[in-house]
Amino acid sequence: MSNYLREEEVVVSIKDASLVYQGDKAEVVALQNVNLDIQKGEFICVLGPSGCGKSTLLNIIAGFHKPTSGVAMIDDQPITKPDWDRGVVFQTPTLYPWLNIYDNVAFGPKMRKQQKEQVKEDVEKYLELVQLEKFHKSKPYELSGGMRQRASLARVLINEPKMILMDEPFGALDALTRINMQKLIRDIWNMTQNTIFLITHDVDEALALATRVIVMTSRPGKIAKEFHTEFTYDINGTNQESVTYSPEYTELREEILNIINAQH
Ligand SMILES: Nc1ncnc2c1ncn2[C@@H]1O[C@H](COP(=O)(O)OP(=O)(O)OP(=O)(O)O)[C@@H](O)[C@H]1O
Ligand SMILES: [Mg+2]
Repeated sequence: MSNYLREEEVVVSIKDASLVYQGDKAEVVALQNVNLDIQKGEFICVLGPSGCGKSTLLNIIAGFHKPTSGVAMIDDQPITKPDWDRGVVFQTPTLYPWLNIYDNVAFGPKMRKQQKEQVKEDVEKYLELVQLEKFHKSKPYELSGGMRQRASLARVLINEPKMILMDEPFGALDALTRINMQKLIRDIWNMTQNTIFLITHDVDEALALATRVIVMTSRPGKIAKEFHTEFTYDINGTNQESVTYSPEYTELREEILNIINAQH
């Protein structure tokens, strides 16, 4: 078992953050007094009932929303807008349909005026990492859902972000593709030692990937409980089943499900 976490290397710090949406008729308190420090190299998975504020929390870290009160910081600076240092992967792949896969992945570095040779080298590297090296010239519509999601991931990875934010990234994929994507993201996390914040509805996905599982309460969203887990270090290759049948796994799974179910 290995563990990459180095103490006290906080990348993102959220202090007492609340967010109130101005709805048509009434205010919606989506988040209430959330405190969270995300350490470098952590793989955080967030679970919670629908509408509890998971995406709102991710959008605050991404810089799409500002908390109504409290603050979100990255490297001790307030987050005020989206930036290349935080890459976001949504449930629906975000690719430009008129560009081929190469140009989609090259988009960020080109926007930042990186040298052409460097861009080429990086696109090749990241397309290989997501196993799309034979699809440079394909258009997004020519790829399967899983392949499109892998291209979206390459598009984020090429910017070498400090954090990768994923909002139910595998939610629209079939079960087998989903397992393959989980393996791929774990391998990439192992390789790049990136910091990942991933929202999911699937407790098994959370336990298979996370070093910390955060469970939120129903609206107004707060952190109900968090668990430090290490199953992700034990899962490699084909042994996922033996890990998921262990008594520790079953017990934790049940505890988390009980918290989520108690919210309804
Ligand atoms: N722009 C908005 N204006 C008003 N209310 C909003 C807005 N965006 C979200 N909400 C409300 O805020 C609450 C939290 O929404 P959010 O999308 O963060 O939840 P979620 O946990 O991601 O849900 P899901 O699991 O369904 O994706 C919900 O009740 C939602 O209806
Ligand atoms: Mg959501």
